[in-house]
Amino acid sequence: MPNPLPRRTFAIVSHPDAGKTTLTEKFLLFGGAIQTAGAVKSNKIRKTATSDFMEIEKQRGISVSTSVMGFEYGGCRVNILDTPGHKDFAEDTYRTLTAVDSVILVVDAAKGVEEQTENLMRVCRMRATPVLVLINKMDREGQDPWDLLDELEAKLGLHPCPLSWPIGQGDRFKGVYNRAKGELDLFSASKTTIASDVRHFDGADDPELDKVLGALAPKLREDLELLDVYGSFDRKAYLAAEQAPVFFGSALNNFGIKELLDTFVKIAPEPGPRLTQAGLITTQHPKLTGFVFKIHANLDPNHRDRIAFMRICSGKFERNKFYHHVRLSKKLRFAAPLLFQASDRNTVDEAWPGDVVGLYDTGNFKIGDSLTEGEKLYFKGIPAFSPELFRRVENLDPFKAKQFDKGLRQLTDEGVAQLFVQQPGNRKIIGTVGELQFDVIQFRMLHEYGAKVRYQALPYLKACWIHAADSEQIDSFFQYRREHHAYDKDGNSVYLADSEWMLQRLQSENPGLEFRFSAEVMVQDGEDNPNGDEG
Ligand code: G4P
Repeated sequence: MPNPLPRRTFAIVSHPDAGKTTLTEKFLLFGGAIQTAGAVKSNKIRKTATSDFMEIEKQRGISVSTSVMGFEYGGCRVNILDTPGHKDFAEDTYRTLTAVDSVILVVDAAKGVEEQTENLMRVCRMRATPVLVLINKMDREGQDPWDLLDELEAKLGLHPCPLSWPIGQGDRFKGVYNRAKGELDLFSASKTTIASDVRHFDGADDPELDKVLGALAPKLREDLELLDVYGSFDRKAYLAAEQAPVFFGSALNNFGIKELLDTFVKIAPEPGPRLTQAGLITTQHPKLTGFVFKIHANLDPNHRDRIAFMRICSGKFERNKFYHHVRLSKKLRFAAPLLFQASDRNTVDEAWPGDVVGLYDTGNFKIGDSLTEGEKLYFKGIPAFSPELFRRVENLDPFKAKQFDKGLRQLTDEGVAQLFVQQPGNRKIIGTVGELQFDVIQFRMLHEYGAKVRYQALPYLKACWIHAADSEQIDSFFQYRREHHAYDKDGNSVYLADSEWMLQRLQSENPGLEFRFSAEVMVQDGEDNPNGDEG
């Protein structure tokens, strides 16, 4: 099958303010996908007041077109998958990480490794996702580069391998030395040009280096020698997520960024295989397969479009061809699938493994759904993490019970929050990672489903999925803990914990039980077709 260009499908992740948007924008400039800076606004979300979710949703509307930014560079089609910067939408980010083949992590040189980054890297580690690191903002005073490497190791479990090394920092920042090429890229602050001043040397001992760097040359030589402890770059180790190449630069000043992008498109992984219940599906698999990792609903009543984002894993996706929606066992075809160009979306006729297509949806899809050419495949590894905030949700209008149930089901299918049910009485609990989702749900339930809801705060901190070799063990565990027992949407037993201390005690008292803090999004076939219409 002629696959036009190799794909590089990845996400740029960072703690807010480390420079993700700036870096994305510079990549798009290099790729010729945008002409001016300031075109990427999506994750400016976090900069609005955190309580103003409508404002956030408005911006999420804009961000549909920046959900995936595609362009051609270095003989590859580059697909950057955007991730929300706001921590209340962390689950969106975790799910997006299932659809990428690698990650570029941006770390602020002054702040070092920050909390949100630790969580994101935990997900990457679980999935053995290759990570490349940019230590950004070298034009500012920051932490010592050696300390930053230590932090990458200690806090993120990465094995860093610096490919470039900085000379000075802040006002004394002179540039970066490329270890493999023996080249020195001299720093000049320029927000607009992409030209750089690169000098080549015959190794670090070249006396020319002293002419350019003066008294800083011996220090550089010393550093380069010490860097040997990090070994040399080994692409296999990087692809196996056992080594993380590190670059130093300044996204704002366009410094070290082209070098990073050039290297990235060369070394980054091709679209990789994905695990299904029937084994690995590689890109060599001749038939189309893909899974939905994100659903975007527009709150604007004039534009009620819902877009399901599908990562193509194998085969060729074609417009207007019938595909098999595995869970619903139903044929669907798409007249206007979207392929995302940078800050633009176009209808496409075909798309390939590694690409993400946007499918207009009227409620057929939920996160984790798969499309095939008839095969019964379910993709594994799409995580549902334990929420951190829990509230009971009540329907205030008994005449709207149907709408209430449908709304909760659809919104949780979209991944806005997780739904748990307690017996007796089918009491419903919503679990989220951020306060904002509660506002989003209340608003959307009323405006989209006509159901007025009320919340009641609950004291739980975590949901743990309880597993055991035999189900009787689970029943007897919950016998005296009914108020902590709930079922997730797929009927799995969940313990709702109200203290870390109690959780630890229960774990040690019940060695036969396994307490898991994440569950896979389960997609089972035979579920009802929610509204019986075709896509
Ligand atoms: P994020 O997406 O990771 O949240 O970060 P973003 O790119 O928005 O960058 C956060 C701030 O850091 C921005 O400044 C940006 O200009 C600045 N920045 C990014 N890269 C560098 C760098 O290499 N050096 C320096 N000195 N600053 C950098 P802001 O004032 O918050 O926003 P803006 O008004 O400039 O957009």
